[in-house]
Amino acid sequence: MDYSDLAKKSLEARFLSYSPYSDFKVGAALLTESGEIFLGANVENAAYSPCICAERSAFICALMKGHKNFKAIAVSSMVDDYTSPCGVCRQFMREFSADLPIILVKSSGTFIETSLDVLLPMSFGPDDLAKERNE
Ligand code: THU
Repeated sequence: MDYSDLAKKSLEARFLSYSPYSDFKVGAALLTESGEIFLGANVENAAYSPCICAERSAFICALMKGHKNFKAIAVSSMVDDYTSPCGVCRQFMREFSADLPIILVKSSGTFIETSLDVLLPMSFGPDDLAKERNE
Protein backbone atom coordinates (compact mmCIF):
# COMPACT_ATOMS: atom_id res chain seq x y z
CA MET A 1 0.00 0.00 0.00
CA ASP A 2 1.26 3.47 -0.87
CA TYR A 3 0.85 5.77 2.09
CA SER A 4 2.30 8.95 0.53
CA ASP A 5 -1.09 10.68 0.22
CA LEU A 6 -2.02 9.80 3.81
CA ALA A 7 1.37 11.04 5.02
CA LYS A 8 0.90 14.33 3.13
CA LYS A 9 -2.59 14.80 4.59
CA SER A 10 -1.23 14.38 8.12
CA LEU A 11 1.25 17.18 7.41
CA GLU A 12 -1.65 19.43 6.29
CA ALA A 13 -3.65 18.54 9.42
CA ARG A 14 -0.90 19.93 11.71
CA PHE A 15 -2.00 23.44 10.78
CA LEU A 16 -5.44 22.79 12.33
CA SER A 17 -3.79 22.24 15.71
CA TYR A 18 -4.86 24.41 18.64
CA SER A 19 -1.79 24.14 20.85
CA PRO A 20 -1.04 27.51 22.49
CA TYR A 21 0.36 25.83 25.64
CA SER A 22 2.81 23.29 24.27
CA ASP A 23 3.33 25.00 20.91
CA PHE A 24 3.63 21.43 19.58
CA LYS A 25 1.41 20.98 16.54
CA VAL A 26 0.46 17.41 15.69
CA GLY A 27 -1.50 16.26 12.65
CA ALA A 28 -3.17 12.94 11.91
CA ALA A 29 -4.84 11.48 8.84
CA LEU A 30 -7.01 8.41 9.30
CA LEU A 31 -7.90 6.18 6.35
CA THR A 32 -11.22 4.34 6.64
CA GLU A 33 -11.95 0.95 5.14
CA SER A 34 -14.18 2.70 2.58
CA GLY A 35 -11.25 4.87 1.45
CA GLU A 36 -12.17 8.17 3.10
CA ILE A 37 -9.56 10.20 4.94
CA PHE A 38 -10.36 12.06 8.17
CA LEU A 39 -8.01 14.69 9.57
CA GLY A 40 -7.26 15.29 13.22
CA ALA A 41 -5.10 17.72 15.19
CA ASN A 42 -4.32 18.18 18.86
CA VAL A 43 -6.60 20.56 20.76
CA GLU A 44 -5.33 21.90 24.08
CA ASN A 45 -7.08 23.58 26.97
CA ALA A 46 -6.23 26.19 29.63
CA ALA A 47 -7.02 23.55 32.27
CA TYR A 48 -4.41 21.30 30.56
CA SER A 49 -5.89 17.85 31.25
CA PRO A 50 -8.83 18.14 28.79
CA CYS A 51 -6.30 18.21 25.93
CA ILE A 52 -6.97 15.78 23.07
CA CYS A 53 -4.31 14.39 20.75
CA ALA A 54 -4.40 14.51 16.95
CA GLU A 55 -4.93 10.75 16.66
CA ARG A 56 -7.99 10.67 18.88
CA SER A 57 -9.49 13.76 17.25
CA ALA A 58 -9.19 12.07 13.81
CA PHE A 59 -10.88 8.96 15.20
CA ILE A 60 -13.71 10.98 16.73
CA CYS A 61 -14.34 12.77 13.41
CA ALA A 62 -14.51 9.43 11.56
CA LEU A 63 -16.63 7.74 14.23
CA MET A 64 -19.13 10.60 14.15
CA LYS A 65 -19.60 9.92 10.44
CA GLY A 66 -20.35 6.26 11.19
CA HIS A 67 -16.95 4.71 10.36
CA LYS A 68 -15.72 1.92 12.60
CA ASN A 69 -13.22 0.11 10.38
CA PHE A 70 -9.88 1.63 9.56
CA LYS A 71 -6.98 0.87 7.26
CA ALA A 72 -4.19 3.12 8.57
CA ILE A 73 -3.36 6.33 10.41
CA ALA A 74 -0.53 8.76 9.64
CA VAL A 75 0.89 11.06 12.33
CA SER A 76 3.23 14.03 12.04
CA SER A 77 4.41 17.12 13.90
CA MET A 78 6.66 20.09 13.07
CA VAL A 79 9.68 18.10 14.24
CA ASP A 80 11.86 16.48 11.62
CA ASP A 81 11.63 13.19 13.46
CA TYR A 82 8.94 10.58 13.98
CA THR A 83 6.17 11.53 16.42
CA SER A 84 4.86 8.34 17.90
CA PRO A 85 1.34 8.10 19.37
CA CYS A 86 1.10 8.52 23.16
CA GLY A 87 0.01 5.63 25.38
CA VAL A 88 -3.56 6.90 25.73
CA CYS A 89 -3.96 7.11 21.93
CA ARG A 90 -2.49 3.62 21.47
CA GLN A 91 -5.11 2.17 23.81
CA PHE A 92 -7.86 4.32 22.27
CA MET A 93 -7.03 3.05 18.77
CA ARG A 94 -6.80 -0.54 20.06
CA GLU A 95 -10.55 -0.47 20.55
CA PHE A 96 -10.96 -0.52 16.77
CA SER A 97 -7.96 -2.56 15.62
CA ALA A 98 -5.21 -4.59 17.29
CA ASP A 99 -2.79 -4.19 14.39
CA LEU A 100 -3.66 -0.94 12.64
CA PRO A 101 -0.85 0.22 10.34
CA ILE A 102 0.64 3.44 11.75
CA ILE A 103 2.57 5.74 9.46
CA LEU A 104 5.07 7.98 11.26
CA VAL A 105 5.89 11.06 9.21
CA LYS A 106 8.82 13.45 9.65
CA SER A 107 8.17 17.14 8.88
CA SER A 108 10.40 16.72 5.82
CA GLY A 109 7.87 14.19 4.48
CA THR A 110 9.93 11.02 5.01
CA PHE A 111 7.78 8.30 6.56
CA ILE A 112 7.98 4.80 7.97
CA GLU A 113 5.28 2.20 8.57
CA THR A 114 4.83 0.50 11.91
CA SER A 115 1.69 -0.97 13.47
CA LEU A 116 -0.34 -0.92 16.65
CA ASP A 117 0.64 -4.46 17.65
CA VAL A 118 4.29 -3.34 17.61
CA LEU A 119 3.60 -0.14 19.58
CA LEU A 120 1.17 -1.82 22.00
CA PRO A 121 2.10 -5.50 22.41
CA MET A 122 -0.06 -7.94 24.42
CA SER A 123 -2.82 -5.35 24.43
CA PHE A 124 -6.19 -5.40 26.15
CA GLY A 125 -9.19 -5.04 23.88
CA PRO A 126 -12.93 -5.64 23.52
CA ASP A 127 -12.37 -9.38 22.92
CA ASP A 128 -10.91 -9.73 26.42
CA LEU A 129 -14.19 -8.67 27.99
CA ALA A 130 -15.95 -11.44 26.09
CA LYS A 131 -13.70 -14.26 27.37
CA GLU A 132 -15.05 -16.99 29.59
CA ARG A 133 -14.61 -16.28 33.30
CA ASN A 134 -13.67 -18.59 36.11
CA GLU A 135 -15.22 -17.07 39.22
N1 THU B 1 0.29 14.97 21.00
C1 THU B 1 -0.49 14.48 20.01
O1 THU B 1 -1.45 15.12 19.54
N2 THU B 1 -0.20 13.25 19.52
C2 THU B 1 0.89 12.52 19.87
O2 THU B 1 1.09 11.46 19.35
C3 THU B 1 1.82 13.04 20.89
C4 THU B 1 1.39 14.26 21.60
C5 THU B 1 0.00 16.34 21.50
C6 THU B 1 -0.57 16.42 22.86
C7 THU B 1 -0.21 17.84 23.25
O3 THU B 1 -1.19 18.74 22.73
C8 THU B 1 1.09 18.10 22.50
O4 THU B 1 1.18 17.10 21.51
C9 THU B 1 2.32 18.05 23.38
O5 THU B 1 2.37 16.87 24.10
